[in-house]
Amino acid sequence: MHYSDFGLSNTKRLLTRALHDGYAVPAFNFYNMETLDAILTAAQITQSPVILAVSESALEYMGDDILMGMIAGAKYKKNQIALHLDHGHSFESCKNAIDLGFSSVMFDGSALSLSENIKISRRVSEYAHKFDVSVETELGTLAGFEDKNTKSKSGAFTDPNIVRDFVNQTKTDSLAIAIGSSHGAYKRKNKNESLRFDILEQIAKNIPNTPLVLHGASTIPQKYINTINKFGGDMKNAYGISPAQIRKAISMHIAKVNFDSDLRLAFTSAVREYLFKNKSVFNPRDYLSAAEKEMTKTCIDTIQNIMGSGYKI
Ligand code: G3H
Ligand code: 13P
Ligand code: ZN
Repeated sequence: MHYSDFGLSNTKRLLTRALHDGYAVPAFNFYNMETLDAILTAAQITQSPVILAVSESALEYMGDDILMGMIAGAKYKKNQIALHLDHGHSFESCKNAIDLGFSSVMFDGSALSLSENIKISRRVSEYAHKFDVSVETELGTLAGFEDKNTKSKSGAFTDPNIVRDFVNQTKTDSLAIAIGSSHGAYKRKNKNESLRFDILEQIAKNIPNTPLVLHGASTIPQKYINTINKFGGDMKNAYGISPAQIRKAISMHIAKVNFDSDLRLAFTSAVREYLFKNKSVFNPRDYLSAAEKEMTKTCIDTIQNIMGSGYKI
């Protein structure tokens, strides 16, 4: 199937427009019916383009058929929705997503040597572009330790001096860069750490026509950490990127921003609070609905107060 058969949008076009008009498109990760619906409802309410991001492990969790069945049945797909493979680690993984009907894929070769990264990125672009599917690649390494998508503990910033060559050689449509963000809920030792805007500025100057992507951008709202801890959880010293820093990055050429942890926190805090306060409930639909609503709120807040993408469709 081709992504247009599902009414999905071309990711490159969404990002090019965002870059031109000075906002960013959010990429929200999902992994089941409730999380998909939460994102689509937020997109509908805010009239914002959104990228539905599916990691390799989320795809494995849902299974190809269930995922594409949900996409085929989604209600708001006319509203500029793209379906994106997040952190594909091989050509085969990217090809599988393209063949299923994804509108874009990320090939994450950040753990490979530069030459291997270029070689496979280019191969993915050649295959994807035959179907008008967009490609995101990564240069530099995000630091992080929570999920298997992050291979590095220390991280290496993207070298602005090699981005132009990398883009030319790989024919990538967008580029994920490492400027100090990282995956997961424990991305900051304290609230004052800053992204490397000096590196971002140089990268943007060297590849002005390439939309840039910020991974690991969750803000880790302390209200969710507090709720989780209050109702039986145990999450200490979890801090994220401040909304002000993300807004600044967007004003400096970031056109796509990835959020997963913030949505997981919203979902989990609602489940914990609901079950704690409703001790006799055992129907999963009750607490899953509460969790979906809280996740929708977070997506709306992100779109309206950080991305600036509301009313852009
Ligand atoms: O960057 C990765 C996302 O947070 C997805 O993580 O592989 O646990 O779905 P996951
Ligand atoms: P967070 O863990 O900061 O939400 O990052 C998600 C991400 O980058 C998905 O690709
Ligand atoms: Zn990521």
